[in-house]
Amino acid sequence: MKVNPSIRTQLLAWLVIPILVLLLVGTGLMYGLAIELASDAYDKALVDSVYSVSACVEDVKNKIVVDLPPQALAILRDNPKDKVFYQVLDEKGHLIAGDACLPAPDLNERIDSTTAKFRDEKVKGEEVRIASINFALPGQKEEAVFIQVAETLKGREQIAEEILQRVLLPQLVMVFMSALIVWFGVTRGLHTLNNLRDAVASRTPSDLRPIPLDNVPREVRPLVHAINELLDRLREDLQAQRRFVANAAHQLRTPIAGLKTQSELALRQTDPADVRYALAQIHTAAERSARLTNQLLALARSEPGAVDSALWQAVDLQTVAKNASKELVSLALGKNIDLGFESSPASIFISGDHASLHEMASNIIENAVLYTPEGGHVTVRVEASGQGAEKRALLIVEDDGRGIAPDERERIFERFYRVSDRGVSGSGLGLAIVREIANVHKAQIIVSDGPDNQGTTVTIDFPAVSPPELLSATDFGPRISNPLHESSTV
Ligand SMILES: Nc1ncnc2c1ncn2[C@@H]1O[C@H](COP(=O)(O)OP(=O)(O)OP(=O)(O)O)[C@@H](O)[C@H]1O
Ligand SMILES: [Mg+2]
Repeated sequence: MKVNPSIRTQLLAWLVIPILVLLLVGTGLMYGLAIELASDAYDKALVDSVYSVSACVEDVKNKIVVDLPPQALAILRDNPKDKVFYQVLDEKGHLIAGDACLPAPDLNERIDSTTAKFRDEKVKGEEVRIASINFALPGQKEEAVFIQVAETLKGREQIAEEILQRVLLPQLVMVFMSALIVWFGVTRGLHTLNNLRDAVASRTPSDLRPIPLDNVPREVRPLVHAINELLDRLREDLQAQRRFVANAAHQLRTPIAGLKTQSELALRQTDPADVRYALAQIHTAAERSARLTNQLLALARSEPGAVDSALWQAVDLQTVAKNASKELVSLALGKNIDLGFESSPASIFISGDHASLHEMASNIIENAVLYTPEGGHVTVRVEASGQGAEKRALLIVEDDGRGIAPDERERIFERFYRVSDRGVSGSGLGLAIVREIANVHKAQIIVSDGPDNQGTTVTIDFPAVSPPELLSATDFGPRISNPLHESSTV
């Protein structure tokens, strides 16, 4: 299973990483600015040195003379961190005074004496910063004197390091503090979720009451709403299941109690006629309990969770309806009911489970036969409607019996619900099974008046599928045998 990072980790990552980046960028900018200001100050000091040397240069009888007093030289050289070099050159680049080791300036370039020129070079293997000016002595027209002062970069590097330390350390402390504050804030914010988790975790499995929405943060409300809706559905399902189990137990208890009483009675009888009568009663009770047990099993099999639609086949609805009708012929004959099956010209296929569909058709046709008075008519037929993807297959069972009142048409599908005063024994599960099977086959059930507004018409409206030969072999299982096409009375 893929483990998703926790909300806390995500929030911390989304908050701390951008803060860290912002602080680092800020630190970089501050460092750059501080270094620029520090080098400006160093450059100015270098220019001052250049001018102090230039003040000592004079023209003595057309000869350039540098008279640098020892104190001035000491001040120039007196630098605890860096080495300082100076140079006075004439217009041809001949050294007049100072250190010979400095690289010569560009003699062709004339520099305004009020602005020094800076360049970075190497002297004796060390990086230096050089400030140079070029000026004319009083009374001379040509800028015949070049002065250069160079300084190694140790002082600058040291100050850069100090700035970095002084800027970076407080920033790192800021990052750490921000992360702590964010962590604390996120933990506090998520505290309400912990309360919610505790409220759910401390419940017993049977406690399906809705989770209270007080103190639930707005962002989590939709989730809690959805959970509450699920709990509602679970509660309803659980109640329905409890009712069903209670009803099933009650329904099963009655025929079994009957069996026990009748068998006790039979054991006490000596007259074979009485024994036979008692045995007939036992047989009826056994049949009832067998039917009930089968119905309960059919219901359990049709529960949505128990159905594996991957095993479904293309089923010819006509064959199903016809076979179910045939099985009920003797019941119809016993009541002198005309049970008719109207064939349609072509087979109509649906995707489904053959046994369940047979059970469904039997229950509907059986009801029509049972609840139609003697001499009545029951007609079963399968019709196709719609085109292409909208194609439907309809299973229609009509009778001209007593009908079902409109306000009962919904309730007859409830488990164990029976319309009283019909004089037919049953348990009220037949249509509940029909509804479950219809649901898993995505079919609709319509109960309406019978032909000529008499009796009942039950229509099951299925999504139809193409005949199996038009589908790939893997879509459905083996082909269904060909249905009979002729219109017939079964
Ligand atoms: N074609 C019909 N005409 C009139 N009433 C009907 C018809 N079909 C069903 N009903 C009514 O609907 C009720 C529920 O039917 P359902 O098949 O669920 O139960 P049942 O027939 O009573 O018992 P069983 O579980 O044995 O089928 C029946 O009791 C009956 O009163
Ligand atoms: Mg029934």
